[in-house]
Amino acid sequence: MSDFSARLVAWQRRHGRHDLPWQRTRDPYRIWLSEIMLQQTQVATVIPYYQRFLDRFPTIEALAGAPVETVLELWAGLGYYARARNLHRCAQILASQHGGRFPADPVAIAELPGIGFSTAAAIAAFAFGTRAAILDGNVKRVLARCFGIEGFPGAARTEPQMRELAESLLPEESIEAYTQGLMDLGATLCVRSKPLCTACPMYDVCVARRDGRQSELPVARPKKVLLERETTVLLLTDGERVLVERRPAAGIWGGLLVLPEGGVAEARAFASRVGCRLLDMRPLSPLKHTFSHFRLNITTLLCRVERLQSMVAEADWQWLAREEIETAALPTPMRQLLRVGVKTSYDLS
Ligand code: ADE
Repeated sequence: MSDFSARLVAWQRRHGRHDLPWQRTRDPYRIWLSEIMLQQTQVATVIPYYQRFLDRFPTIEALAGAPVETVLELWAGLGYYARARNLHRCAQILASQHGGRFPADPVAIAELPGIGFSTAAAIAAFAFGTRAAILDGNVKRVLARCFGIEGFPGAARTEPQMRELAESLLPEESIEAYTQGLMDLGATLCVRSKPLCTACPMYDVCVARRDGRQSELPVARPKKVLLERETTVLLLTDGERVLVERRPAAGIWGGLLVLPEGGVAEARAFASRVGCRLLDMRPLSPLKHTFSHFRLNITTLLCRVERLQSMVAEADWQWLAREEIETAALPTPMRQLLRVGVKTSYDLS
């Protein structure tokens, strides 16, 4: 057994968790359910849900035979509801194609809906004692620190390296204590910030601890370099209504109402096209909005107008009443601008 595995197993036996409701069982159904609930949710939150779920659906057949609405009701509050729908679909597949039983092979387990490689490895290890390597976010943190692995763990280069390491460390026996030990170490000592190194079984072998690099490892997800774009928009208002334009269906903010783009020259042109007299113009404080691929810096020109006509001839333009600002189909930054613009204009009048 590697030094790492031997230390981890000994530590888990003595200091790890042994009384969680999904431990002390080899029932794959119970283990599977716990692993799915624990994917994006903390242990303390999961426990009452786990118990209620098992009371209602004590077997795979009971789950498979229930309407999906009932499954979702029992899941309500845990979030990530695709987990519940996949769980139900998975139970139906197991009931109809596997005689209501889980396959023991992690590769076959990972083919079922909602079960990735790491979850399949956990189920195989806990239910069948199979030597299979879990590799979730907590385990990646433990390995990156202990072995000094550089590179963001999710990167195309780093991930296979970590998987290979995780597989090479698997002990020949005691896979259950080893797997639980990895989870326990990541959840209780080797936590993201302020890890409790002095209590750690890896204290004198951990590369990050030796070099004082606990806060640098694992390497953080690389930040995207965002392009910046500038735009100027016009907020034409008489204090009661604001001129807005509906965006084309495709593209950014498709189909939503926005302030029209343009500068001083456009302000004059727009005012006459919509039957207004322009009283004055002033800039509002700039606003930044971040999209997934770029940052938009929005300058707004507040144009106070006197409305001479009530209608707008342009098909995509409309006067939005101040009472409609909170409920109209506006993107968030536009709603913020409209609130500020209308208030400022009102205060000035
Ligand atoms: N997180 C994921 N699986 C777990 C388990 N079996 N015990 C505790 N925390 C977990």
